[in-house]
Amino acid sequence: MTKAIRIHRTGGPEVMAWEDVEVGAPGTGEVRLKQTAIGLNYIDIYHRSGVYKTPLPMCLGLEAAGVVEELGDGVSELRVGDRVCYGTGPLGAYSEARVMPAEKLLKTPAGIDDKQAAAIMLQGMTAQYLIRHTFRVEPGMTVLFHAAAGGVGTIACQWLKHLGATVIGTVGSAEKAELAKANGCDHTINYTTENFVERVAEITGGAGVPVVYDAVGLATWEGSLDCLARRGMMVIFGNASGMVPSIDPMVLNQKGGLYLTRPSIVHYTATRDELVGTANELFEVIGTGAVKIAARQTYALKDAAQAHRDLERRKTTGSTVLLA
Ligand SMILES: NC(=O)c1ccc[n+]([C@@H]2O[C@H](COP(=O)([O-])OP(=O)(O)OC[C@H]3O[C@@H](n4cnc5c(N)ncnc54)[C@H](OP(=O)(O)O)[C@@H]3O)[C@@H](O)[C@H]2O)c1
Repeated sequence: MTKAIRIHRTGGPEVMAWEDVEVGAPGTGEVRLKQTAIGLNYIDIYHRSGVYKTPLPMCLGLEAAGVVEELGDGVSELRVGDRVCYGTGPLGAYSEARVMPAEKLLKTPAGIDDKQAAAIMLQGMTAQYLIRHTFRVEPGMTVLFHAAAGGVGTIACQWLKHLGATVIGTVGSAEKAELAKANGCDHTINYTTENFVERVAEITGGAGVPVVYDAVGLATWEGSLDCLARRGMMVIFGNASGMVPSIDPMVLNQKGGLYLTRPSIVHYTATRDELVGTANELFEVIGTGAVKIAARQTYALKDAAQAHRDLERRKTTGSTVLLA
């Protein structure tokens, strides 16, 4: 019997139950995986709490790494024993084993172990699409990235630095500021004690930044608009502090003809070509050493509720992995 973390109702971490599940055989186009490392992501909290609606009961999680155990019909590009990973779901990653659509899997490169793969797939592919596609950051640009010491932030800030940008990162504590500096931030702002709008104005000599990456949401989005240069791009890609309310388009006009987008990873990895292209660029930047990521916290999969508590209470930094 396989063990998995499932929820039967939405709510706090206490709704997460460690249960026996029947995995079954893979169908056409599917494989059965034995999973060793599962990525923890903030979206898991939105699913658990009901901020993002899903059918119930369900097994949480969108990201993991492991080994192919059994092939379904029609799967030609994978073999039993292949090391694979994924970061775009479908839901059901918090499990010791599972059935997955083969088209969502990537072969894990030889230089990347399972724990590292589970730490980088979702957050790293997110960093890739944000800074290479949503707004393509060029050398010499100064950009603002909120929650710079978090999972996505730690990867994105290293990558932005590698691209030749000047990186301003916001953080919630002095310790996180040190970590953000070590991971590519030229300037850090503790937005729990400092006015980040004033600091960005100071750092940019009043010009503002061409892009703000904001997944903190409710607490920061208004200030973020005020950090943008004329015709700047506001990228709201999450809501760790709460959902952003509806916005009157005239606000974008009054603040300088701004652009606003609210992307998700699914919009950039929907086709197999997009998924492979995104993952390969991530594997390459990790492979060259330009971006260095290891899980900064690990928990046993059965203790996933504690991992959720720590992530929600802003106690984690960088990526977190659950070990099966
Ligand atoms: N749209 C997409 O495709 C996509 C993909 C991946 C992630 N995301 C979003 O990106 C964000 C980061 O995800 P992650 O998994 O890497 O998480 P994370 O950044 O490791 O954790 C969230 C961080 O947000 C900051 N934060 C600010 N206010 C908060 C509050 N009231 N409650 C909790 N945290 C708060 C905290 O850092 P400080 O203490 O430094 O403030 C916290 O560590 C999330 O909003 C997530 O939903 C979006």
